[in-house]
Amino acid sequence: MKSVTSKHFNFITHACCLLGLLISTAVAYAQTDLSGYWLLKVSNGDGTYRETYFELKQKGETLTGSLLGRGPNGIPLTGSFKDGQVHFATVVAAPPGAGFSGRQVAYDGTFENGKFLLQTMSRKELIKGVAERSTYEATLPPARLALPELHDVPDNGLARTPPMGWNSWNKFAGKVDDATVRKTADAIVASGMSKAGYVYINIDDTWEGARDAKGNITTNTKFPDMKALADYVHSKGLKIGIYSSPGPETCAGYEGSYGHEEQDAETYAAWGIDYLKYDLCGARRIYKQTAEETRGLYQKMGDALQHTGRPIVYSLCEYGVGDVWKWGPEVSGNLWRTTGDIQDNWASMDRIGFAQLDISAYAQPGHWNDPDMLEIGNGGMTADEYRTHMSLWSMLAAPLIAGNDVANMSDETKSILLNADVIAIDQDPLAKPVQEVAVQDKSVTLVRPLRDNAVAVGLFNRGDHPVQISFRWDSLHLGAVLGAKTLHATDLWKHEEVLVAGDSYTATVPSHGVVLLKVSATANN
Ligand code: GLA
Repeated sequence: MKSVTSKHFNFITHACCLLGLLISTAVAYAQTDLSGYWLLKVSNGDGTYRETYFELKQKGETLTGSLLGRGPNGIPLTGSFKDGQVHFATVVAAPPGAGFSGRQVAYDGTFENGKFLLQTMSRKELIKGVAERSTYEATLPPARLALPELHDVPDNGLARTPPMGWNSWNKFAGKVDDATVRKTADAIVASGMSKAGYVYINIDDTWEGARDAKGNITTNTKFPDMKALADYVHSKGLKIGIYSSPGPETCAGYEGSYGHEEQDAETYAAWGIDYLKYDLCGARRIYKQTAEETRGLYQKMGDALQHTGRPIVYSLCEYGVGDVWKWGPEVSGNLWRTTGDIQDNWASMDRIGFAQLDISAYAQPGHWNDPDMLEIGNGGMTADEYRTHMSLWSMLAAPLIAGNDVANMSDETKSILLNADVIAIDQDPLAKPVQEVAVQDKSVTLVRPLRDNAVAVGLFNRGDHPVQISFRWDSLHLGAVLGAKTLHATDLWKHEEVLVAGDSYTATVPSHGVVLLKVSATANN
């Protein structure tokens, strides 16, 4: 009985304490005003932190405000703060041309000892971080640096055919590290890809560390020695690429080249870098997204790369801002992204790929339209869709930068990436633009003139059912109708000869698939 009483007493005491605690906590939260500026730091796991500023305005339990640092006005957020639990969400706009307006990002967490413990989902992963009070001043972008007078940067003489290689982003994103790059270099050689032309091994975003006392860029813990890594890649007969931004930070929030362009170019050259992808990203909150300002930013790095004296392929990644295809060569750009980011799905690849036809005439030796890296082998599309991806990019003379895990690829993926006949279309030295010669419903016929009296003919089915697509042999203008020439045709995916007979050719093309032919003419003697 005694014990029961005492238990009972204890219970009451605990209940009282708990109630007291709840009341005092509630009072404490009632008095807490979260209004103000906050800095959220999320560890990248490589010695660097992703920093996001936001401003909160609290009214009762309602939160409004904005996520800062991604644009001049921030991205509006709305949410609530109740009993120490914080919840807010924003809609992050997609980059221009991405084909979708934005995606919702939600933050949840608790408020303890003046700090938030927040979590959010990013790229299907749960990300946790701590947010501490900050100031308005800290949220401001760095001072705008003067842009140079525009001039023409001399052609660097590189990339006479569209660059070919591999890039880490599509498959590995923030997980790329030294070991992944070495393993990929090994596999590029072992699989035969390097012999087929894929020679650039490009490290995308998230290799960057902080700047040292002299302002030199360093690598983070995932890349202990970039020079040694470059030596390794070179020892395989390959070339190595790297990534940066004209802004203070890159798209993934790492250190950009802002105000350090010359210094960074010298560092890349000293490491032995052969290719730079330069991504507008963080510069968007400082400069206007006009042809003139963007050109100034890219000219700065174009000049810096040339001053190093090392041949470095220059890849402009600004998603087509200011019709980059019109001035890309003037900043010594060897390739320029024409769209937002590709995704590993049919809708994205189809939309991006077929939107390139109007600007295909801007591609020329040394200077190429870049509709983004390949997704072949990443698992989000069927084999027919990946064959369309490879065929379309080749018809467009687009850079062929594989984006898959080449150390672990299936035979089917290999057969697509390593189709030498299709690669030869992409790399055709005449670099003649593709022409859209017929469109009917979802059927698209593309023709591209090739060297040696030949053309490539692509019969594409963008629809959801198999269709028959035809073309007349004389529409290829190879002179055969006059009887002066004989036509030879090969199906480049079936690897077989096609009978040239009658007036026209008809193929059944699977849904989202392609029939790709090379047709050549030889003179009849
Ligand atoms: C942008 C680019 C991508 C990739 C990421 C890295 O989104 O368009 O290709 O480089 O940045 O953060």
